[in-house]
Amino acid sequence: MLSSSDTNHLLEVAERAASKAYAPFSSFRVGAAILTKAGNCFMGCNVENRSYGLTLCAERNAIAAAVASEGGETLKIRAVAVVSQGRVTCTPCGACRQCIDEFAGSDTVVLFYRDGQIQERAIAQLLPDSFKLKS
Ligand code: THU
Repeated sequence: MLSSSDTNHLLEVAERAASKAYAPFSSFRVGAAILTKAGNCFMGCNVENRSYGLTLCAERNAIAAAVASEGGETLKIRAVAVVSQGRVTCTPCGACRQCIDEFAGSDTVVLFYRDGQIQERAIAQLLPDSFKLKS
């Protein structure tokens, strides 16, 4: 389990990122914060586009920031917090689960609000039997 100070910090950073989201089409602002194994924190928010399919999710933008800073070969994600503005229920979409899993270790967890309550889930719970190139 993640410590309560890490949990609170990640939720706060994710909430701050959500306030920066560009979501004029859905009005659904999402922020994400990643804690890496190396102890760094990265944030991302959703960035929509008038060509709707080009929308970028908060989690994947946070992952991109983490990769750009730490390097994709070494990056390991300890935890990801996903928060929508107003703490409306927001679980990570399937594509983001797959992208979190790409950089996951055995103890990677995802935090999100559901019905106003913080949930902590192992990525393996959110994406069971995930695709592997080699067994
Ligand atoms: N969204 C995210 O940022 N992350 C998710 O995991 C689910 C959905 C965004 C995309 C879009 O801008 C808005 O939420 C509504 O779907």
